[in-house]
Amino acid sequence: MLIKRPADIKSSEITDKELYLNRRQFMQTASAGAAVLGTGLLAPGLLGPMSTAWGATKLDNVAKGKFSTDEPQTSLKDITSYNNFYEFGTDKGDPKRHSGSLKTRPWTVEVEGEVHKPRTFDIEELLKMPLEERVYRLRCVEAWSMVIPWIGFELSHLIKLVEPTNNAKYIQFVTLYDTEQMPGQRRGILDWPYTEGLRMDEAMNPLTIMGVGLYGEVMPNQNGAPIRLVVPWKYGFKSGKSIVKIRFVEEEPPTSWNMAAPHEYGFYSNVNPTVNHPRWSQASERRIGDFFRRKTLMFNGYEEQVAHLYKGMDLKKLY
Ligand code: MTE
Repeated sequence: MLIKRPADIKSSEITDKELYLNRRQFMQTASAGAAVLGTGLLAPGLLGPMSTAWGATKLDNVAKGKFSTDEPQTSLKDITSYNNFYEFGTDKGDPKRHSGSLKTRPWTVEVEGEVHKPRTFDIEELLKMPLEERVYRLRCVEAWSMVIPWIGFELSHLIKLVEPTNNAKYIQFVTLYDTEQMPGQRRGILDWPYTEGLRMDEAMNPLTIMGVGLYGEVMPNQNGAPIRLVVPWKYGFKSGKSIVKIRFVEEEPPTSWNMAAPHEYGFYSNVNPTVNHPRWSQASERRIGDFFRRKTLMFNGYEEQVAHLYKGMDLKKLY
């Protein structure tokens, strides 16, 4: 991870008076930060606007990943201001407005259940996993889509570390439950905490990643900081945000949207243009930023990589 320090800022970048004054202010703040660092009492925010509470925004050592689309990428502004994260409200702008209350350090992800080596990972350990940039399409069940340059690591790497038992058939993913940090959880819109699930072979598929950032930087809070699931051939809601627990189980786990409206949201939730949502069509989608709608592709365009997972299954019944 690259941490921007005052020394990293070249004086040639600084020209006019306003910038000079900002720099002076930055240096003062930074030296105050350094002084406090010495005492071990660093308060979040002291490191200035280009840093998060833990001191870095850029993710370093990120390889170019496989399976990336070369379609135009949705703007950072749209990706971070048009969100679904009901823990912060149901309006698309709510997550950006309200997710500042989410504290992403310290953060751990507990891995438990049907594994030989249950383990709690600190987020810093997870950031050392082999990180890749994967530019994936995200198709929401609400019939809009985006193209997002995620940064993450293959979930299969983590799965191998904990050695699942032969009983592990599914994995459940659980979001943080904290009504102080996530005020939307005080309303009974969903059965909190938000949970999602995958079948073991879906979780092991190389397309499935744990996302830790986007556009080269750590994950913005509204997009599911500090770590979220990204499953590009399924509707967006399968990709749970701000994950604190990964549980290996024998039976198909309950999932938040399936519990809330079973006839509308099935366990599989593959992007399938031939199965309409009971209240609207799934045949086409609006790419955020585009004027015209486009046809929705089977498995969101990832048919080649994932169709084999569902061979012999009736995906109209198992939606
Ligand atoms: N995860 C949690 N914990 N809470 C949510 O409300 N919304 C889901 C999914 N993950 C959601 C969540 C839905 S409906 C979608 S479309 C995607 O997150 C949106 O991800 P984005 O806002 O990063 O684009």
